[in-house]
Amino acid sequence: MRIIFLGPPGGGKGTQADFIAEKYDIPKLSTGDLLRESVANKTSLGNEAKGYMNRGELVPDAVVIALVEEKLASPECQKGFILDGFPRTVAQADQLANFMVSTGKEVDHVVYFSISKDEIIKRISGRRSCQECKAVYHLEYVPPKEQGMCDVCGNKLIQRNDDEPKTIESRLSVYQEQTAPLIEYYKMKNILGELDGSGLVPEVQDRLLDLLSYQKIK
Ligand code: AP5
Repeated sequence: MRIIFLGPPGGGKGTQADFIAEKYDIPKLSTGDLLRESVANKTSLGNEAKGYMNRGELVPDAVVIALVEEKLASPECQKGFILDGFPRTVAQADQLANFMVSTGKEVDHVVYFSISKDEIIKRISGRRSCQECKAVYHLEYVPPKEQGMCDVCGNKLIQRNDDEPKTIESRLSVYQEQTAPLIEYYKMKNILGELDGSGLVPEVQDRLLDLLSYQKIK
């Protein structure tokens, strides 16, 4: 299974990608997580990416493409993968298509998470994440058992820098301008399925499994 999760910030892509990765035993490749890790480790790539991310802008294509291609070429991605947050521009999508041709494989499916702006803002404002194990929670919808602490590893939960209200609007406009055109791009290739991303996590999971089985993705 080689699959892309496409959709607005806070749409639930990462949450559902974790679920599918575990269910089908394939790696989740989240460019957001990879970039945040580089920032935390203060690598040269992380230092370059930090400003863009804090302003809610996209990191330059060349940086992200190099990061993803290196991961896709690794042995763990040979049995399949879920791309969460990549591609995000037409240039990234074109480059991914070229890369897939060079491997003789294809992306099977693109899932587009459709969700209202009001719900996106509620989800992003309440999100808390574990800096250690990357588990994601929501203060109201997916609360941790102990307030402020990660259920998985017991570390402290934090709010992402780019989840501040002033940055959310900028991320949403960047999404509309640069990423939303990919909906049409993948529709034209006949591999896009639209997922209603509203409702609680288990409801979205059920719809996602239906969509994947309908598309006969195994
Ligand atoms: P990235 O980390 O990819 O952020 P994003 O796409 O904006 O997506 P999010 O992580 O905000 O949301 P999500 O859809 O995964 O939602 P989640 O499951 O967490 O990117 C961050 C930055 O990195 C970018 O702005 C950019 O600078 C850079 N970057 C990354 N990729 C790049 C690329 N390819 N090119 C260039 N730059 C790139 O859910 C959100 C919240 O809602 C959580 O609290 C969750 O618990 C909750 N929730 C989830 N589902 C539900 C539900 N069904 N009901 C209720 N609550 C729910």
